[in-house]
Amino acid sequence: MQTLVIYYSRNGFTEKALSILADFLKDPTDTIHIKDMNNEVDLNKYDRIIIGSPVYNNRVNSKILGFCKKNMEILSEKKLGFFVTSLSDIETAKDYLFQSFPKSLLRSTRCKSFFGGEISWASLSPVERLTLQMTKGITTDVSNIDLNEIEKFAACLRKQCR
Ligand SMILES: Cc1cc2nc3c(=O)[nH]c(=O)nc-3n(C[C@H](O)[C@H](O)[C@H](O)COP(=O)(O)O)c2cc1C
Repeated sequence: MQTLVIYYSRNGFTEKALSILADFLKDPTDTIHIKDMNNEVDLNKYDRIIIGSPVYNNRVNSKILGFCKKNMEILSEKKLGFFVTSLSDIETAKDYLFQSFPKSLLRSTRCKSFFGGEISWASLSPVERLTLQMTKGITTDVSNIDLNEIEKFAACLRKQCR
């Protein structure tokens, strides 16, 4: 099973969550940040594509959504997995995922997940700090990584291979 992971990460948490997922999955995967995605990446050679993004200002990354829309046809032929990272509770995280990704692709897979999120206050830009303070009242480090969800996502992906 050839697996490709396409993701966005601005502050590093999504990358960290993906390395935990890779430990649970144990399958070799090619992992590409959406900013490094180009025409040389041949989607045809993958059996499974996992797509994920953090939520910033109530939105999933627009390049990730653009990738999904541009490649709808080929993605609909693959085994798929979707996830978001965010600081919200799981119900809100579900809304982010279900309202953002194309519904026809979401319907084609059971593997959808919500990994939690993390803020390292020191690494944020002044604008990000101000945004978080104003919109969420956050002024410090926060970590709510959901290892259980990541493990369940890996189990769901493994089942796709049987
Ligand atoms: C400026 C800013 C805005 C954010 N907006 C939201 C939001 O609207 N909803 C939410 O649940 N989480 C929000 N988050 C939390 C991020 O989704 C969370 O920190 C995520 O883990 C970041 O992933 P990354 O480190 O891979 O970029 C925000 C974080 C920052 C810094």
